[in-house]
Amino acid sequence: MNLKDLYIDFFVSKGHKRIPSAPVVPENDPSVLFNTAGMQPLIPYLMGQVHPYGTRLCDYQKCIRTNDLDEVGDSTHHTFFEMLGNWSLGDYFKNESIAWSFEFLTEVLHIPVEKLAVTVYAGSDAIPFDSESYNKWRSLGIPEPRIAKTVEDNFWIAGESGPCGSDTEIFYWRSEEDVPDIFDLEDNRWVEIWNNVFMEFYKDSEGKVTELPKKNVDTGMGVERTTAILEGVHDNYASSIWKDVIALISSISGLPYEGNEKSMRIIADHLRTAVFISADPAGIKPSNTDQGYILRRLIRRAIRHAKRLGIDINSDWEQQIAKILLNQYKKYYKELEDNENVVLDVLKNEKEKFNRTLEKGLREFEKATRNKESMDATTAFHLYDTYGFPIELTEELASEQGLKVDIEGFNEKFREHQELSRTSSQGKFKGGLSGNGEIETKYHTATHLLNAALKQVVGLDVHQKGSNITSERMRFDFSCDHKLSEDEKQKTEDLVNEWIQLGLPVSVKEMPKNEAIQSGAECMFIEKYPDIVTVYSIGDVSHELCGGPHVNNTSELGHFKIKKEEASSAGVRRIKAVLEE
Ligand code: SER
Repeated sequence: MNLKDLYIDFFVSKGHKRIPSAPVVPENDPSVLFNTAGMQPLIPYLMGQVHPYGTRLCDYQKCIRTNDLDEVGDSTHHTFFEMLGNWSLGDYFKNESIAWSFEFLTEVLHIPVEKLAVTVYAGSDAIPFDSESYNKWRSLGIPEPRIAKTVEDNFWIAGESGPCGSDTEIFYWRSEEDVPDIFDLEDNRWVEIWNNVFMEFYKDSEGKVTELPKKNVDTGMGVERTTAILEGVHDNYASSIWKDVIALISSISGLPYEGNEKSMRIIADHLRTAVFISADPAGIKPSNTDQGYILRRLIRRAIRHAKRLGIDINSDWEQQIAKILLNQYKKYYKELEDNENVVLDVLKNEKEKFNRTLEKGLREFEKATRNKESMDATTAFHLYDTYGFPIELTEELASEQGLKVDIEGFNEKFREHQELSRTSSQGKFKGGLSGNGEIETKYHTATHLLNAALKQVVGLDVHQKGSNITSERMRFDFSCDHKLSEDEKQKTEDLVNEWIQLGLPVSVKEMPKNEAIQSGAECMFIEKYPDIVTVYSIGDVSHELCGGPHVNNTSELGHFKIKKEEASSAGVRRIKAVLEE
């Protein structure tokens, strides 16, 4: 049986309900592009909301972390990984959590106690030493020198604010050498395999810490790393998870893994992540913004490395690899089965698009860098604009030759171009660099109007909780404690249409963040914004912090119609609406 199944069975036997993995694109949290941890979709419940499945939950959650995307290529980094987790929502606490982790590791996975070490919270002015965890570990047979106490490494929070608390981390001795008696955190042969967080606090965006209504447990264990450990391999990509994919890449390229590890790992990792992003219900397609841009970068980087291995990039190599991945994971994730063709199409289309310009772009790159020590912004932008080279790809190519790229200059050109495409959003520059078509731009402006209308009709405490736009419709999630009445829906719709008919001008202004807040501009996650922000105003009815793009005048929107109003999650309602001609 594999690790995921063993884990779920074990925690189900301890009274947990298995919950399905949430989509990789968060449904109600536009502050992050992807779910980065198992606890992320559970934040509302860790904060006190009642979970429909009860107080003991477990799952394997699809996670994507792209902040160290460029590190992928070594033996441990992945952009996508699965995180095993078990939670107590105000149910059990430290005692059971530690006992069950220990039991699972030693009795189900048969890891010898001698190979384990742990850390516990050492104590600070605000929170005392975690003697409860310490004593529990001692009682289970972890000797004193194998328990390290830290402050910094034993407090866990996702980002800057949110539910948090002290934790205890479990380490495994990943080496053939004798296990040292004393656990030295600096010795990287000790690798962390499990993190049990005791979430008792909430830290707000100002840094103020308060107690949560309940004491929770949140644990996380990475599937890739633990599988490699259990199989006794030091390279994650040598484990059973990657075996078939690497073997296929090796056979397609006719090259051995040894000596070609970097490119093979990049292809395997990036295509797996691309499969999961494009299978997600959010319907992400390669583009030049947000998740779509990550997807584009992953596919294009994989293609570049396939080319490097001498693979015929116009063949169906990526389809073959994707099919192996789809088969491997579809029994765990139904969306892979449902969206198999979508995934294969996304990969094929993006490959064909990039392949048309890749060869020429590479030649251009060579010409521009011959006998040079750096690459200027104009060339980097030209590669992006004309040949579709994501700037990160240009940077990677350049660094392979020891060249620097003028990134600042590139960003400046990028912004100039974006501004140009925004102001000429009336068709001429359709799509532009922003990746937003004319229709999506209209929906974007309509979203601001809907937000403002709901505030007038339903109440000032309506706040945006999420939004999603396709060329067919808009979806808007907002805080609201009741189902909207027919009357409220009608009034909201009428108000939006009234503003459309008034032909209100849309204007944009840059200002310091504080000034924007003081002026009453609407925004979702203030702490996520830079010091200077752009505020879009629609006549006098709406002011929102936003990156755009928007139409120039509301008269461009057509007729606004609410199609559906439903619950999204507790305290959050969802409206689906369309713009008609
Ligand atoms: N949230 C913690 C982590 O991501 C434990 O699940 O490590």
